[in-house]
Amino acid sequence: MYLAGEEEIQAIARVIRSGKLFRYRDDSECERFEKRYARYLGVGEFALGASGTYGLAAGLVGLGIGPGDEVLVPAHTYMATATAVLAVGAIPVIVDIDETVTISPDAIRDAIGPHTRAVIPVHMWGAACNMDAIMDIAESKGLLVLEDVCQGIGGSYEGRKLGSIGHAGAFSFNFFKNISGGEGGGIATSDPKVAERARCYIDPCHFYWQGRNDETKPFAGVGARASELLGAMLNVQLDRLEGMIKAMRAEKKKILAGTKHLDNLGLRASPMNSPDHDCATQVMFTLPNEDAAQAFIKTMPAVIAGKTGRHTFTQWDQVLMHEGAHHKALNPYTLPDNKGLRTEYRDGMCQGSLDILNRTVMVATHPSHSAEETEAIIHNIDQAARVALESVALDAVVLKSQQAVDPQKFDA
Ligand SMILES: Cc1ncc(COP(=O)(O)O)c(C=O)c1O
Repeated sequence: MYLAGEEEIQAIARVIRSGKLFRYRDDSECERFEKRYARYLGVGEFALGASGTYGLAAGLVGLGIGPGDEVLVPAHTYMATATAVLAVGAIPVIVDIDETVTISPDAIRDAIGPHTRAVIPVHMWGAACNMDAIMDIAESKGLLVLEDVCQGIGGSYEGRKLGSIGHAGAFSFNFFKNISGGEGGGIATSDPKVAERARCYIDPCHFYWQGRNDETKPFAGVGARASELLGAMLNVQLDRLEGMIKAMRAEKKKILAGTKHLDNLGLRASPMNSPDHDCATQVMFTLPNEDAAQAFIKTMPAVIAGKTGRHTFTQWDQVLMHEGAHHKALNPYTLPDNKGLRTEYRDGMCQGSLDILNRTVMVATHPSHSAEETEAIIHNIDQAARVALESVALDAVVLKSQQAVDPQKFDA
């Protein structure tokens, strides 16, 4: 999702004309965005950086995760969730999702071992994880929770903004996200110590510009500082966010109401943990089996959740092949501190997740869809369901013209 116009062009032009693209300055666009976004989320601080991947790693560093720690990640997420765990020297343990396509609280409970320190619930496709259950488990088992909100900007869980519920929340502002600066990311938290460590990881020299904090000794990090161009663009994008989310939620509601009659046929709206508060970028349906899902997407523009390549654990080469670092001495899979941790990913693992993903189809909404376009989507879902579930021949259905799926977003 990416909507931008003259306002973004003007904001970026202002920064260029000022000649001040470095964030540490008076009237900093980055600092203004950090404060506004923290307020929007309802957290104490937001630290802006260059990507969501780096935001995740900064969040883990902020929380004190490193060698010796296992971190639970869902079987369905962009691979960066798992590679960020490796980047800080810890081991990702992959656990099942449920029909909401988000991490299963039961699977979290079952997966906790003596070395498990944290869990990363990922709000996939803008749909919230079951945060009440996850926070209960975390509290009773002493786990830290880093929300991966890269796909969930603007979404909430029961009235609380995603990213404000766990101990920290990581965000991406890359081209595909609900607000974007082309690239970008960051970390939200209400714990000043976590924020300070995350800022140090994002910019190991930040204390030089922003002042030392006696409690946090500076440590080395790779560096992923944001520029004023990103800050300026995001300040405009933030103003667009609520309107976009409102429009997508309204469209999703119409699509769900218009396709409810297909329930009996076997096309069911996927269950959601907070159905009225998701980003509504996608409307998800669960079909009885993979063949039906395949027939559905051959009929109309839609995507099977399990066929988006990099979002399924089976495609995470670095993880499955134990290539955890650029140098073998730094590889978390062979670090002495990680001895005794669960480093193996067995063949045939998480089959339940694959089954769910391969029969879940996603139909994209868009804030700029007209009433006619939404009607076309509803009509096409009806026709696709008849092909998928009533054995109606493909050439016997009549489809209305509809926006194609963006292949860059979903291809492997
Ligand atoms: C769930 C999830 N986590 C992490 C990331 C990584 O964000 P970035 O591409 O900004 O590094 C993404 C980006 O697509 C994502 O979708």
